[in-house]
Amino acid sequence: MNFLPLIESKREGKILAPEQIQEFIREFTAGKIPDYQMAAMLMAIYFRGLNTAETTALTLAMRDSGDVLKFPRDSRPLVDKHSTGGIGDKVSLPLAPLLACLGFRVPMISGRGLGITGGTLDKLDSIPGFQTLLPADKIVRQVQQVGCVICGQTDKMVPADKKIYALRDASGTVPSIPLITASILSKKLAESLDALILDVKFGCAAFMQTKADARKLAKAMVALGNECGTNTRAILTDMNTPLGRAAGNWLEVKESVACLEPRSRRREEAQTKSEIRNPKSEISQSLLTSAATSDDLRTLVLECAAHLLVQTKKSKSLAAARQLAEACLNSGKPRKKWDEMIVAQGADLKAFNQKLALDSTAKVIVEVESKKVGFISRCDARIVGEVIRDLGGGRLTKDSPINYDVGVDQLAKPGERVAKDGGLCRVHAADSAQATIAAARLQTAFEISAKRQLPVPLICESIN
Ligand code: URA
Repeated sequence: MNFLPLIESKREGKILAPEQIQEFIREFTAGKIPDYQMAAMLMAIYFRGLNTAETTALTLAMRDSGDVLKFPRDSRPLVDKHSTGGIGDKVSLPLAPLLACLGFRVPMISGRGLGITGGTLDKLDSIPGFQTLLPADKIVRQVQQVGCVICGQTDKMVPADKKIYALRDASGTVPSIPLITASILSKKLAESLDALILDVKFGCAAFMQTKADARKLAKAMVALGNECGTNTRAILTDMNTPLGRAAGNWLEVKESVACLEPRSRRREEAQTKSEIRNPKSEISQSLLTSAATSDDLRTLVLECAAHLLVQTKKSKSLAAARQLAEACLNSGKPRKKWDEMIVAQGADLKAFNQKLALDSTAKVIVEVESKKVGFISRCDARIVGEVIRDLGGGRLTKDSPINYDVGVDQLAKPGERVAKDGGLCRVHAADSAQATIAAARLQTAFEISAKRQLPVPLICESIN
């Protein structure tokens, strides 16, 4: 094809026809368009944008650049969630088995972390024996038999996105709403979903820093998902504070499993642990007790499930759906489903349970203590994310190795009271020198105020 006139058209702000977009995606995927020309097109799109019809054509052409998962007919709707990513965001882990127990099929195709944001596959790689790379036929079989799978994209799924994303990364064209929309949705649409919930984060550790930008991206993705035949909704959620009480790959798996425990049992266990671990003061004891319950994580997991119940007409209202999801979580069935899912993906359950029983798998643990009494008014998710990345828990480049054991846990959350010398969090590190540096940096993540400030809401709005 002669690609140059299309680049020039977009450079001049003209509209491309769907057939032109389909053709250049096909040719680029087949290696027939050089990277320098595609990079020029991406820059033209970055500055000139794409209208809805163009973005739809791009998304569908990218989806169709490789295999689309095909499932047998079944009364259980196919659903998934996508998050734009943040610190401590482990929602996918408890959500997949919960959704399977609510009567859904969940082909959850996830990604790896880069920079400060964690990736679901990296967290799962910390489970002994767990396989994240599965062929398409195994993905379909597991979804049919177990109800859920969490795995990586196969080599044959959406190859156009892999090639285009690498070029965007190298050409400064990542932050473009139509390109982000097409990239995310082409992968989700390749799962053949009936319904999709998008968790679009805003704040200091999010891809979109402001609520207004997050709303713009959410609206574009919701419109396009619905246009392409998948019932799509979005929620806007705060990512100024880490989600939950733990961040770091293995520590997040631990917290996800705790989130799946029926509530009363979780509370009792948390109480016992906090009494053993921190006998110092009444205040830090009560802080640790609440610290193990991770209510924001549980709230977000239930909210995603509730939206999908309404989207698929399994519930009439969000209120009824939240109750249904909560009752299911408290039944203990999703906790059992988790074991079934990880065993189906090769996990060694005995080794997993032994690892789960350990307080820490890192070489060194250091407690970060508050220098004064007061109320937490800030716990900066960006600083926490940078500290974990530098401890070895994240990647600076796509190929950097990861230390799964490092991270932070028992994070104090905004609005909570802390005593002088009371715990703000614990650092899990590979050696004491790194733990000391991390602890000093984590002190700067926290602000302690004399007066309690009401924490900002976690879920700000939903977009249908
Ligand atoms: N995540 C993706 O998969 N694609 C983007 O473009 C941005 C975030």
